[in-house]
Amino acid sequence: MLSLRFVFVLDTCMIEEEFEYVKSEFKRAIGLLPENAMVGFVSFGTQVQVHELGFSDMSKVYVFRGTKEISKDQVMEQLGIGVAGRRNVPGAGGYQQQKGMHMQNSGVTRFLLPASDCEFTLNSLLDELQTDQWPVAPGTRASRCTGVALSVAAGLLGACLPGTGARIVALVGGPCTEGPGTIISKDLSDPVRSHKDLDKDAAPYFKKAVKFYDSLAKQLVSQGHVLDLFASALDQVGVAEMKVAVERTGGLVVLSESFGHSVFKDSFKRVFENGEHSLGLCFNGTLEINCSKDIKIQGIIGPCTSMEKKGPSVADTVIGEGNTTAWKMCGLDKSTCLTVFFDLSSSEKSSNPGAVNPQLYLQFLTTYQNPEGLMLLRVTTITRSWVDSAANSEELVQGFDQETAAVVMARLTSLKMEAEEGFDATRWLDRNLIRVCSRFGEYRKDDPTSFTLNSFFSFFPQFMFNLRRSQFVQVFNNSPDETAYFRMSLNRENITNAAVMIQPSLISYSFNSLPQPALLDVASIGADRILLLDSYFSVVIFHGMTIAQWRNLGYQNQPEHQAFAQLLQAPKDDAQMIIHDRFPVPRLVVCDQHGSQARFLLAKLNPSATYNNANDMAAGSDIIFTDDVSLQVFFEHLQRLAVQS
Ligand SMILES: *[C@@H]1O[C@H](CO)[C@@H](O)[C@H](O)[C@H]1NC(C)=O
Ligand SMILES: *[C@@H]1O[C@H](CO)[C@@H](O)[C@H](O)[C@H]1NC(C)=O
Ligand SMILES: *[C@@H]1O[C@H](CO)[C@@H](O)[C@H](O)[C@H]1NC(C)=O
Ligand SMILES: *[C@@H]1O[C@H](CO)[C@@H](O)[C@H](O)[C@H]1NC(C)=O
Repeated sequence: MLSLRFVFVLDTCMIEEEFEYVKSEFKRAIGLLPENAMVGFVSFGTQVQVHELGFSDMSKVYVFRGTKEISKDQVMEQLGIGVAGRRNVPGAGGYQQQKGMHMQNSGVTRFLLPASDCEFTLNSLLDELQTDQWPVAPGTRASRCTGVALSVAAGLLGACLPGTGARIVALVGGPCTEGPGTIISKDLSDPVRSHKDLDKDAAPYFKKAVKFYDSLAKQLVSQGHVLDLFASALDQVGVAEMKVAVERTGGLVVLSESFGHSVFKDSFKRVFENGEHSLGLCFNGTLEINCSKDIKIQGIIGPCTSMEKKGPSVADTVIGEGNTTAWKMCGLDKSTCLTVFFDLSSSEKSSNPGAVNPQLYLQFLTTYQNPEGLMLLRVTTITRSWVDSAANSEELVQGFDQETAAVVMARLTSLKMEAEEGFDATRWLDRNLIRVCSRFGEYRKDDPTSFTLNSFFSFFPQFMFNLRRSQFVQVFNNSPDETAYFRMSLNRENITNAAVMIQPSLISYSFNSLPQPALLDVASIGADRILLLDSYFSVVIFHGMTIAQWRNLGYQNQPEHQAFAQLLQAPKDDAQMIIHDRFPVPRLVVCDQHGSQARFLLAKLNPSATYNNANDMAAGSDIIFTDDVSLQVFFEHLQRLAVQS
């Protein structure tokens, strides 16, 4: 039995063009679903409509007001799923099993149907569905009740399929302006909150909306359901507020400018695809950790929720989802990655070293339901011997994984920036890096020129340099929605992918050599080169000036210039390979040196040549207009500070 169950929640407050795009992708998705996948449909604008799919010749709709918070009981009552006279007692474990089953079934046959039974109904329903008809006065935003719509969908799933893996797939085209979850007033002259507003506590709707989504997250987790968010709009829609509900349930998130853009279209399609290219979406996961008694668990950063299972291994200080030894993962897939923080400074160990087992162990027990519906248990047990942390033992040094360390620092920094008021990320990163370099570098005290780093650490400073400049730390270049989106991906992707978000990869293509990795530096730009930048969320093909000229003259079409045609083609093929494997599908930017889109590359490069030192540059290279310190200057400072006594 396949375990695919979806409730689609579609925003109807859109311009006609966007609405046609999203409807057409939605239809395509339904067509991709296996016959027995269960589908439900909720649309919303000023009000929420739950569509009864059990009728094919007549469409039946239940309408909910968008202005007021609505409980699961009220949803059931209005939909006629909960039968008269019986009240669900909160905290009492819901309905009694037998009657509950009966009512769930009636809800299932009316609102959640196998794709094969409702595809026709749903398609004709979508053909007739119009954009929200509620009048929108000039100078105002549409009245959009995203929060209530998601509550209703959660109530529907909670009533019909509690404890069974299911996803709410939200397609949202603008900000919530009505009812709970509102992020902005309807007055268009009132701009959506920025990072500056959040910093200054000048975002009056933010905390209330986050609180609402926090309680929605709790409801979804207790039901075992996932919230996926596909947001497409030019302005922000409230991803920053919804983050808590998406991340705690292990949901997917894709942010794009338009429902017509390939970032949305191709990502959305991937969710419903089967076979080799599928995301391998799993459900109903739990993670339990068991470890030696001298190790304490502080918490997890990543797509999960604490199950509040206390025990002697729980640390007093909490990082992320902590205060527990077990976590719920309503949604997970083959690349889900969690960061677990352990506290090794147990007083027992330091006060009584002789009593401690020379070996430590960590055990991870993961259960989940795979896409075929099978329940699996995976146990990973690790043992190591304790090493004396005062000595620079080889074992300690060789065990350092710099890529993983960089990703963990990025995740922890992001968390601290969100959780700690006035947190200075750059200084905190610098202090930690200096500590690592002082501790593991080799040098003579107070002699910066003598400083060297062991190869197991040698890339770490550069990762930290790029992290300081990345979208995770320099948040002011982005909107809070974008930051939330980047961070959710950072927290859930595997190390290889997360490392590329921090430090993009750059490949150089030229006539005289095979494609080769290039330094992430403005000096890598050359008039006769093509560069391919992969920064995870975007993939940039950048043509040097001469290459662009030849291409504009059409040399690639002339038989005697086959080599040039091949040179032009190679980065395109490589970009397609990256795009094909990735979720969310990255934005592809093709640009030329000095073109306006070139900023997508330049923003990621080390400014070794800026207008401050433009005179010593090689011909054909480029300069970056910035006051940022270059990697070289950064290293010089680092060496000086690391060797200080
Ligand atoms: C979900 O997981 C829990 C704990 O692993 C298990 O007891 C339960 O049977 C699972 N539910 C379903 C519907 O598979
Ligand atoms: C951890 O493992 C030990 C040994 O198997 C067991 O006695 C203990 O109950 C386990 N603890 C947890 C929290 O599962
Ligand atoms: C951990 O849980 C206990 C009991 O539920 C609670 O009293 C305590 O405040 C929690 N600690 C943190 C840091 O959340
Ligand atoms: C991470 O995921 C990508 C696909 O998204 C895969 O190609 C790569 O091998 C994975 N890396 C690790 C270390 O698992």
